[in-house]
Amino acid sequence: MTSQVLCPGSFDPITNGHVDIIRRARDVFGEVLVGVGVNQQKNYLFGEQRIELVRRSVEDLDGVEVAEMDGLLVDFCRSRGISTVVKGLRFGADFDFELQMAHMNHGLSGLETILLPASADHVTLSSTLVRSVLQFGGDVSNYVPGPVVDAIADRLWQGP
Ligand code: PNS
Repeated sequence: MTSQVLCPGSFDPITNGHVDIIRRARDVFGEVLVGVGVNQQKNYLFGEQRIELVRRSVEDLDGVEVAEMDGLLVDFCRSRGISTVVKGLRFGADFDFELQMAHMNHGLSGLETILLPASADHVTLSSTLVRSVLQFGGDVSNYVPGPVVDAIADRLWQGP
């Protein structure tokens, strides 16, 4: 028996590290819903494109779906019948933040969080770094999936 788990994030933009975590979560749990956070207060560099870029980046992965996610994570999970969240863990700062969120989410609704160690190849990679390099015109094609490389080439992002 499999039960769908949630891999949530901002994905601004999705990186090779995210895809690796999504694939490995799918291998362990069978089915993954990727929840792309939509926060009206946030200025995303890739704006509306984020969801489509996530969709294209995981379209070859069987058992993986993508959905927009707004409001509280626990409410989103309840509405979808999801009881477990899987998140990637890189280093200490991630752990400190993830532990706080995991406890809050568990306290709010009993939602469980599984932290999956990032692969060695991606352990220092982040969307923040990718955005930073991109804003100065650097080449991030080794760090993001093909659809993001294409979107950058087509200038489908809100940069200079
Ligand atoms: O990629 P990110 O920015 O780390 O993703 C953050 C995300 C979307 C997973 C997080 O902001 C989130 O869970 N947002 C939903 C709002 C919520 O439930 N906040 C309380 C968390 S304890």
